[in-house]
Amino acid sequence: MTSLVVGNWKMHTTQAQARTLARQILRGLRKGHAGAEVVLAPPYTSLRPVRDVIRRSQIRLAGQNAHWHESGAFTGEISSSMLCDVGCEYVILGHSERRHIFGESDRSVAQKIAACLGQGLRPILCVGETLDEREQGITTRVICRQLKVALKGVSKNVIGNVEIAYEPVWAIGTGRNATPEQVGRVHQRIRKTLVALFGKARGNRVRILYGGSVKPENAGALASVSEVNGLLVGGASLKAETFLPIVRCFSIR
Ligand code: PGA
Repeated sequence: MTSLVVGNWKMHTTQAQARTLARQILRGLRKGHAGAEVVLAPPYTSLRPVRDVIRRSQIRLAGQNAHWHESGAFTGEISSSMLCDVGCEYVILGHSERRHIFGESDRSVAQKIAACLGQGLRPILCVGETLDEREQGITTRVICRQLKVALKGVSKNVIGNVEIAYEPVWAIGTGRNATPEQVGRVHQRIRKTLVALFGKARGNRVRILYGGSVKPENAGALASVSEVNGLLVGGASLKAETFLPIVRCFSIR
């Protein structure tokens, strides 16, 4: 299975900054890369400029969220068909910042997954426990619930178009990352759940990424965990000199 490394730029970059960063990443990948597939998720206003830079390259484009309706009176939202129109092939859904700052529920994430799959987008479904949930010992229960609700309407035929990202909430943007052992254990549980829901062949083919304070210093150890099929990178994806070494960790697996 090809590894996947996603750069989530969150609410960063003007169009000019996004163009420059995308160019630097593209140039770096051309030099010496990479067994990994690379996806960039700039803010909406920078999707078009980044698309223009990465067109005809191996880099793919992602949205950071999508509404489940195709159009309508939903001020401030964006639809999956609009993301396709601007050139996205992927979309991040259920990111913990969406869940915890903007109150997204498992059910709304499920609606978004269905809408995006319907448009042919590949959702990157984020799941993860809070620090409180980890300390209560309910990490597995929380993650299984998030997966089961979000994937409820997904048929066996299209589960291959979904990526899962395990992002412990306590590790995002905090500088605290989960240890390779912790990551391996949770990824095994996620794999078990996918196999239970979609059968062995299909469940085993879904990529499971890790995200949360991934940096060049810890990416090698995370990439060497056999259950880790890629990484979702926030802060360190905003500079080519930190993002490229992370991508390269997968070329030497
Ligand atoms: P971080 O963000 O790498 O800055 O912790 C990861 C994410 O939110 O996807």
